[in-house]
Amino acid sequence: MSLKMYRYSSSWFINVLFGLLLLQKGSARDLRTVTEPKTPQICTTLKATSGDESKTIQKALNSCAKGKAVELSFGTFYSGPLSIPSGVSLLVASGTILKALPDPSLYDLGAKTCGTQDQYGVGCRAFITIHGATGSGVYGKGTIDGQGGVTMTGKSEAWWKMPANTNIKGGARNAPRLIQINDSMDITLYQITLKNSPLYHVATSKTYGFTVWGITIDTPSSAPNTDGVDPMGSQNVTIAYCNISTGDDNVAIKAITAPSEHISVVNNHFGSGHGMSIGSEITYGANDVTVSGLTLDGATNGLRIKSNTFRGGLVTGVSYTNVCMRNVKNPIVMDMEYGRTVTGNLTPEFRNITFTNVKVLTDGTFTFDGLSDSRPIKASFNDVHIKKGSKWVSKHATLSGKWAEDATGSVCGNSGNKQFQQ
Ligand SMILES: *[C@@H]1O[C@H](CO)[C@@H](O)[C@H](O)[C@H]1NC(C)=O
Ligand SMILES: *[C@@H]1O[C@H](CO)[C@@H](O)[C@H](O)[C@H]1NC(C)=O
Ligand SMILES: *[C@@H]1O[C@H](CO)[C@@H](O)[C@H](O)[C@H]1NC(C)=O
Ligand SMILES: *[C@@H]1O[C@H](CO)[C@@H](O)[C@H](O)[C@H]1NC(C)=O
Repeated sequence: MSLKMYRYSSSWFINVLFGLLLLQKGSARDLRTVTEPKTPQICTTLKATSGDESKTIQKALNSCAKGKAVELSFGTFYSGPLSIPSGVSLLVASGTILKALPDPSLYDLGAKTCGTQDQYGVGCRAFITIHGATGSGVYGKGTIDGQGGVTMTGKSEAWWKMPANTNIKGGARNAPRLIQINDSMDITLYQITLKNSPLYHVATSKTYGFTVWGITIDTPSSAPNTDGVDPMGSQNVTIAYCNISTGDDNVAIKAITAPSEHISVVNNHFGSGHGMSIGSEITYGANDVTVSGLTLDGATNGLRIKSNTFRGGLVTGVSYTNVCMRNVKNPIVMDMEYGRTVTGNLTPEFRNITFTNVKVLTDGTFTFDGLSDSRPIKASFNDVHIKKGSKWVSKHATLSGKWAEDATGSVCGNSGNKQFQQ
């Protein structure tokens, strides 16, 4: 057991000390200068018929000039999987809905497992794929609906409810992600509303330069594995001014095949969901992450870093600033024993984690669960105010700085949403 918790009354030398620390914190963010995206010019506008529009939309995307967007305008479009070429964007206009047809055979990658459960859960392609692209995006004030709750074609259950296969070990659902972005550069998601994804809404792999700005994710809290935005092995990422409610991690930074670095999560609001997460698949590590101007209302977890000896990973240079939460069961969870039964030979390490101006208006459980006293979780607090009656669970953790059980007030308002600053 190593719990070091110091409480300081506001003394000038601590403030001076933190002033110096803040000056040195400049690199924990997206290294690009990111401003509000501009919607591209339109190459062609499509109007909805009532049939399967996959071919029409894909053809329009394939023949659209680089730098421009295919616009879907008016009505409800139904489509199977789409692939957005390099330099081209998809724009779903205000009042327009693009629905993913719930037919597993359209997404199947060849093993005929899409729409079933198995050990792996990798049997389906995504609804929208961006692969090896530069400067592509998804824009517009319309909605993309993954129809995760709609009964699958030829089956008796929805994607979210698919029953376990009693002949196969493991319970991983083979369902499509809504948007998958791999090996790409300068990708933008702007204003779009995403809902009801059968699995993760947005995931990237090895993507450098990724801006998610002003999008809404609105999916029921009961929908399984419906992560909001998951940057994986990606660098120079900004997630700003988004409103995310879903059934799993609102945002989860992961590193399965490469490190995740230089990530800014600024001025967002999270409703239901499993929180602002790093991990658990974080083997290649995460560093230089800023989470700033975040309000959470009704999420299960707030600020969360999770790994275990099977995943390992060094997580360092993470700063949480100007965060306000209410109705969050576990406001802070730093856990190196995530999924207690999953173990291996790797050593996760969480250090240089800072919490500055964090307010938690309702009581909850704060967990710092490191591996051993020789490798404790290292975190520091400045201006952290939590609700009286909260529970602290801390082992193998070196926690320093200033916090108090003196939070007052019942609404976050815009207190967490300071103007976006680089
Ligand atoms: C991140 O952005 C900076 C600044 O634009 C750039 O110098 C750097 O190469 C980018 N990193 C990657 C991996 O693209
Ligand atoms: C995208 O990358 C992930 C791993 O990072 C991989 O599992 C998936 O198959 C890739 N998808 C495509 C379409 O290349
Ligand atoms: C977030 O989105 C939900 C659902 O669309 C909406 O009800 C809520 O007002 C939004 N909140 C903010 C802060 O924009
Ligand atoms: C701690 O993290 C900050 C970013 O939050 C970084 O700028 C600084 O260099 C790190 N300090 C150490 C000692 O690693």
